[in-house]
Amino acid sequence: MTNKTKVAVVYHSGYGHTKVQAEAVLSGIKSVDGVEALLIEATEATENLELLADAGAIIFGSPTYMGTVSAPFKAFMDASSAIWMKGGWKDKLAGGFTNSASQSGDKTGTIQTMSVFAAQHGMVWVGLDLPPGNNSTGGSEDAMNRMGASLGAMAQSLSDVGPDVGPPKADQETAHYYGARVANAALRWAA
Ligand SMILES: Cc1cc2nc3c(=O)[nH]c(=O)nc-3n(C[C@H](O)[C@H](O)[C@H](O)COP(=O)(O)O)c2cc1C
Repeated sequence: MTNKTKVAVVYHSGYGHTKVQAEAVLSGIKSVDGVEALLIEATEATENLELLADAGAIIFGSPTYMGTVSAPFKAFMDASSAIWMKGGWKDKLAGGFTNSASQSGDKTGTIQTMSVFAAQHGMVWVGLDLPPGNNSTGGSEDAMNRMGASLGAMAQSLSDVGPDVGPPKADQETAHYYGARVANAALRWAA
């Protein structure tokens, strides 16, 4: 038994790129004292939703496929209707991240889907508070939040590189920062 606040990451990754991002979110959660971090693949969470019952916060992660979450992640969302029926995730914190090949790639659609999903569950959404990293002459491809997201953490993995190359360090650092942000928020929320 532990009295630590649990922060879970539920993610899908078809080819490993979003998994790298998920692991960076996880490392950010782990960097916060007093928090227990949990990484769960979406299919496993679909089969055992009880894994999330005692989490204080759940961070959702999916690649952007066709402008929205991937099918396995959507299956997890739909399975969670059983939890929705009993308000099981009400007042947990929530957050989201996504990764895709194009700079935009319609990633906003993916995180909006996650945030509406969280709101349906009565969860409280935590956005990303980093300024855009690459929207002026002073910005750079190497800056945190180079994708310029606010709703959650975004990453870009070029379509012809493996997960050993993409998403790049800047996006992993952004994901790490976001994991720590949600973990700190979960501690305050639980106080
Ligand atoms: C079915 C499918 C749909 C995709 N749709 C998009 C898209 O809408 N926008 C985009 O930028 N990239 C799209 N991509 C590219 C993926 O988002 C990209 O390759 C990502 O890194 C895959 O992450 P994963 O390795 O975690 O599965 C798509 C890839 C697949 C396989």
